[in-house]
Amino acid sequence: MLSRLPHLLLAGLALAGAVSATPSADEEVRAFFAREGAAIRPLNIGRRSAASSQTRHLRPTFDDGMPMIKRSKRDSITPPDVGQIADFGDQDPQPIRNGNGDTFLAASNHEIDEQNVDNVAAPPTDAGTVPNLKWSMSLSHTRLLNGGWVREQTITDLPPSKDLAAAEIRLSPNAYRELHWHRVAEWGYILNGTGRITAIDDSGRSYTSDIKGPLNGTDADIYYFPPGVPHSIQALDQGLEILLIFTDGNFDASGTTFMLSDWLAHTPLEIVAQNFGVNTSVLSGIPQKDPYILKSTVPPAPYGHGGDQAVSDPNGNVPSPYVFHLDQQEKKVAPGGGGWVKIQDSVTNFPVSTLLASALVYVEPNGLRELHWHTNDEWLYIISGNARATAFPGGSSARTFDFQPGDTAVFPVSYGHYIKNLSPTEPLIYLELFKAPKFVDFSATQWLALMPRQVVADLLKVPISVIETFAKEKQLIVS
Ligand SMILES: *[C@@H]1O[C@H](CO)[C@@H](O)[C@H](O)[C@H]1NC(C)=O
Ligand SMILES: *[C@@H]1O[C@H](CO)[C@@H](O)[C@H](O)[C@H]1NC(C)=O
Ligand SMILES: *[C@@H]1O[C@H](CO)[C@@H](O)[C@H](O)[C@H]1NC(C)=O
Repeated sequence: MLSRLPHLLLAGLALAGAVSATPSADEEVRAFFAREGAAIRPLNIGRRSAASSQTRHLRPTFDDGMPMIKRSKRDSITPPDVGQIADFGDQDPQPIRNGNGDTFLAASNHEIDEQNVDNVAAPPTDAGTVPNLKWSMSLSHTRLLNGGWVREQTITDLPPSKDLAAAEIRLSPNAYRELHWHRVAEWGYILNGTGRITAIDDSGRSYTSDIKGPLNGTDADIYYFPPGVPHSIQALDQGLEILLIFTDGNFDASGTTFMLSDWLAHTPLEIVAQNFGVNTSVLSGIPQKDPYILKSTVPPAPYGHGGDQAVSDPNGNVPSPYVFHLDQQEKKVAPGGGGWVKIQDSVTNFPVSTLLASALVYVEPNGLRELHWHTNDEWLYIISGNARATAFPGGSSARTFDFQPGDTAVFPVSYGHYIKNLSPTEPLIYLELFKAPKFVDFSATQWLALMPRQVVADLLKVPISVIETFAKEKQLIVS
């Protein structure tokens, strides 16, 4: 009791501090953003808090004959342990489960523990040494630029993600992500705000399109730039935040991204002048260092008026759009009754996106994206809600992860997995991405339902009458 006291005291003080300090701190932040002319958005708790505040401290209850009782630290799970997430009530998670483990006797980062209870007190089904498959964008270094910021998740952050890397980019109102191209394909999901993208293809056909986040209650836009296609992005008057995916985990390697201004700054000026057919004197102001993000000198035409700025193109326009409007796609209601999906790939509905297949997944409260696997690495991003997932790499090993908004994860090719919405009240919304021309998955339930019953019954030691109830269609998300 005595050793516990300083900790409780500190926690009490911290709580008291948080309660009284939050409103004024919040006001200061708002005032700061107002002064800076940026979109009003509380620091670090904006997009995240809206979705997660209800569920962040969620203690799920299990009604399968196991009423949630206040458990002592010495026994966070009372038998029978059916693998549920450990519940430590109002106390800090401790590495204790089923009579094994013991309390932290020294410091631990309890906020991180609380977000990753399955790291602290894993279900008994976890085994072996499965590498970390999760990365929170909040752990990424953020580059602050004049007109926005960017933070990345590359192979150095999440080594098992070899196929795909990611970034979040924020553009202040009217700011540009400068003209550039990549060795790899770029895919974007508009997290918030409105913007305008520009590009040309290898035949000199141009493309301009306005893009929007999940505004006015609609689903967001996504876009895709093939490798080599030069492009730019501009925020419109509300500012813009985008999730970017690139088809190489080693995205920061030299030879991956090429900025126009960087190139010209490293080309003899005489050559640049001859190339463009102009006098060197008119080029005296070209940047000597690429800005990456920069502010515009004149506000662009408003949302929906991108055409006003278009240059007449003798070659015509790009034949297959780079933007896909998710709000114009029908939801595919999950046969399992637990939510819906919208799947985009080059074979089905987004022809240009030959290197990336994607799915926007909406899981109802308590819903479960069924046990399944894929023929490519799956990379995922939590947009809102709280989730739990177990990765099964084969070889008697498994590891369970917990996710919050802004978390990314990878399930390497063929790993079995599920994704469970932990909240009884809030939906879970996330993205699945694959470096593939087509979305492919295998459902465990469908497999077992379509095999000779006796084969399955003998293996699982489950009556045939039970196997007969397994669904023959992929359930996708079960309720
Ligand atoms: C978009 O940003 C606005 C302004 O900060 C905020 O009110 C809104 O909740 C954000 N929307 C999403 C989907 O995060
Ligand atoms: C959202 O609705 C407002 C009001 O109807 C409209 O002015 C605005 O253009 C809409 N935004 C988008 C991105 O559709
Ligand atoms: C380039 O511009 C400078 C300054 O205006 C001028 O003196 C020079 O004659 C120009 N050179 C050519 C080749 O036009």
